Amino acid sequence: MISNEQIKEKVEGLLEELTLEEKYKLMVGFFRFQTNTIPRLGIKTFKVTDGPLGISQHSSMLRKNTKFPAGINLAASWNRELAHECGEAIGREARATGRLCVLGPGINIGRTPLNGRTYEYYSEDPHLTKEIAIPFVKGIQSQRIAACPKHYVANNQETHRHTIDVQVDERTLQEIYLRAFKEIVEEADPWTIMSAYNLVNGEYVHGSYKLLKEILIDKWGFNGFVMTDWWATQDRGVTQPTTEMAINAGLTLEMPVPILYREEVLLENYSKGKYTEEDINELVRRLLRVYTQVGMFEKEKDLPKGERNTKRHQELARRMAEGGIVLLKNEKQLLPLNISEINSIAVLGPNAKRKFGKILLGGAAAVTPPYEITPLKGLKEKCKGKVKIIKDPSRADVVLLFMGLNHDSQITLLSDKTREDKPEFGKESEEVDRTVFGLPIAQIKLIKKTIEINPKTIVILNNANPISMEEWIENTPAILEVWYPGMEGGRAIASVLFGDVNPSGKIPLTFPKQLKDCPAHKSTKTFPGEDLKVYYEEGIYVGYRYFEKERIEPLFPFGFGLSYTTFEIKNTTADKSKLQSKEDSLKITAEVINTGEREGSEVIQVYSEAPGKAVDRPVKELVGFEKIFLKKGEKKNVEIQIKTKDLAFYDTKKDDWSIEQGKHILHIGNSSTNISTKIEIKINSD
Ligand code: BGC
Repeated sequence: MISNEQIKEKVEGLLEELTLEEKYKLMVGFFRFQTNTIPRLGIKTFKVTDGPLGISQHSSMLRKNTKFPAGINLAASWNRELAHECGEAIGREARATGRLCVLGPGINIGRTPLNGRTYEYYSEDPHLTKEIAIPFVKGIQSQRIAACPKHYVANNQETHRHTIDVQVDERTLQEIYLRAFKEIVEEADPWTIMSAYNLVNGEYVHGSYKLLKEILIDKWGFNGFVMTDWWATQDRGVTQPTTEMAINAGLTLEMPVPILYREEVLLENYSKGKYTEEDINELVRRLLRVYTQVGMFEKEKDLPKGERNTKRHQELARRMAEGGIVLLKNEKQLLPLNISEINSIAVLGPNAKRKFGKILLGGAAAVTPPYEITPLKGLKEKCKGKVKIIKDPSRADVVLLFMGLNHDSQITLLSDKTREDKPEFGKESEEVDRTVFGLPIAQIKLIKKTIEINPKTIVILNNANPISMEEWIENTPAILEVWYPGMEGGRAIASVLFGDVNPSGKIPLTFPKQLKDCPAHKSTKTFPGEDLKVYYEEGIYVGYRYFEKERIEPLFPFGFGLSYTTFEIKNTTADKSKLQSKEDSLKITAEVINTGEREGSEVIQVYSEAPGKAVDRPVKELVGFEKIFLKKGEKKNVEIQIKTKDLAFYDTKKDDWSIEQGKHILHIGNSSTNISTKIEIKINSD
């Protein structure tokens, strides 16, 4: 890796050589996913690519790249190592495709179950989000490819995404929406960040002095450069920042075409003395630093080697899919299926043969892989010569119903006049939000009808957002949540159904019973209708924080997921009873025993209950977790580190993070509601 001194020397040398006009050229995009070159100084184009599920269709129309499971699958695995491996692999694929920056991870908070892009993101909880995003970013950058956490900040739904003005109070902004970005900047040093399309409290993010300069750059010490989201600076009837404002705010790169940073505007502003050359240098310095970090000025043979769609990436895609599958319901242990005891399975439902990796499906994150194992294909491989796959549920030992949502494009929707569940079609995609909370009507009918014919029916769901299950859950004996499991998904699903892999995912979002239970859906003020303002009235009470405060029983709580085995959590201790300073941390040790009949993994979760005297605090908040694998009958100790800073709240009086003094209770369990033990600790920090 190149040293900081070498980087500095190279960058300062280039800055001395570059003319002001050349610097301007570097501040704008060129041809959608590239930047301008300055051949005389060896500055090549900086090619970027969407992420975050793999190298997107824009950069690989050739179907050569691995389609990894979606962000939501990764978060549901609660597995930091997988996140790191995935980042590394995507970094290698970027390198092999000739790209130097991956536009991901997507880390916007799951505020509403209607958001069209939930599949790209991680969780409703900032702690889980950052714990997955940090290793992902580090993984990408280990390949000397820039990561680009997005969309900074409060891009929490797609409706009016270019013009919506999010009204959010300071504490909520910091504690819920900025928190994961902050931790990533401080711990993973991302080389770029993408500003969101939307406005926050009246200002477009790409021109916000407060959000970019004061918070991201000055307070958190962000070293990389900020780029806009694509065409975010276009005039859409809402006042854009001026060029001068964007420069002062610290926006380096306008993508993909110059609008605010048109050369003539820049020159005119400069001649009027609205900024100095040193202001421009500071923006370009950030960019050149990244160009150096990704190895633009080095020989290819000296850089990490790229690869795509190799066996190890395919195998990783499968492990990720397996790791994120969540068993939501399993009455009378209908699952796993015993391959030697059943003769036939009926495989039905619109998603049994569906391929998600097609051009335009889902939006920017769409990856077109060389192949995609559908559930039916995965089952055929698994069942070959052993179990018959049929269509008639009345003659099958077990029925597998592949249901849920999809990424249908507008084009498919318009041409498909035959589908009775218009206009919703179960679509989850960029640019649009869902309009209903339930499954498409035709699917609900199919579930009910099939269960009448054969009660041994298992529903397997593709979706990122929680969906209503009210109309069919009671009579459905088993439900498996597989999200969007990538190109090896069918194999992962077959492995879990037949018990080769024990499901160990936990939902990273609360599944509500009904939409009106969600704070974002209280009114047209809290979720945008015609109005271009959306009011985050629930404040910090997002996801389980809200359900617990209001005592609303969810369908499935945050952090929940079943297993084919059982675990006991015992003898929980903390190595300290007092935390003395902001930098301090303690270690929780718990004995975990696999008390069932199969090997499997469990996620031990720690939630903190603060005294709540200084300010109102949630009932409890996730502050630590570890995933642990245990063989049948095995007993192991798991250690979970709890950092004082993760117990902090944002104190608007100090305009900084504060640790509440006094007694905190740590709740240890395997979901946000299934708590096995509590440990009391004291905070006595300065
Ligand atoms: C999306 C970004 C994406 C960019 C480039 C935008 O519309 O919001 O997430 O990275 O396009 O494709």
